[in-house]
Amino acid sequence: MSPKSNLILKISIIVAKSLNNVIGKDNQLIWRLSSDMKLFKGKTTGFPIIMGRKTYESMGKPLPNRISIVITRNKEYQLPEGHFVVHSLEEAIQLCISRKFDQVFIIGGAEIYQQALPLCDELLVTEINVELQGDAFFPEIDSEIWERISEVHFQKDEKNDYDFDFVTYKKIQS
Ligand SMILES: NC(=O)c1ccc[n+]([C@@H]2O[C@H](COP(=O)([O-])OP(=O)(O)OC[C@H]3O[C@@H](n4cnc5c(N)ncnc54)[C@H](OP(=O)(O)O)[C@@H]3O)[C@@H](O)[C@H]2O)c1
Repeated sequence: MSPKSNLILKISIIVAKSLNNVIGKDNQLIWRLSSDMKLFKGKTTGFPIIMGRKTYESMGKPLPNRISIVITRNKEYQLPEGHFVVHSLEEAIQLCISRKFDQVFIIGGAEIYQQALPLCDELLVTEINVELQGDAFFPEIDSEIWERISEVHFQKDEKNDYDFDFVTYKKIQS
């Protein structure tokens, strides 16, 4: 890694959402999309990931080959060695900067996406081609702020419940 690459932290959100912005229900995902799981793994492996306490608990343990940074107000909260508990999004980002990470992925859930969206450089969004009922939502993506720069289409099949597009958005520089 070059010294220059340590100077800037790229912050990306990665999320899967339905057409009506649902991201989950009862603290779980509500679809089975094997191709999306592979994309998520491919993008995030080797990088730190920031998440809210509820998302962490929905997974139950740290994801392999990624440093987990979990945000909670609980000062007693503990994680396995090599992972980090923080008490705000700002503290999570400061941790990444102080450790000279050059890329971090924000992986949810709804509360953390809402807070992180203004701070991000890039959105990696699995746009699932269905409207669903849920209780956790991603904020509306404002086309005045975010430019859709690429997308890849995936078809429904026996391992994927719905068609979806994997879309990359970049922040429009003002
Ligand atoms: N589709 C997707 O891509 C995707 C990805 C991830 C999650 N999800 C879904 O999203 C849902 C969970 O989202 P959620 O909004 O309920 O929970 P969340 O964002 O995962 O976690 C919320 C928790 O984070 C902590 N927190 C939030 N803001 C904080 C702050 N400013 N300072 C300190 N702590 C803070 C609090 O923990 P404490 O209560 O411990 O203080 C809060 O209860 C689930 O349905 C999950 O399946 C979907």
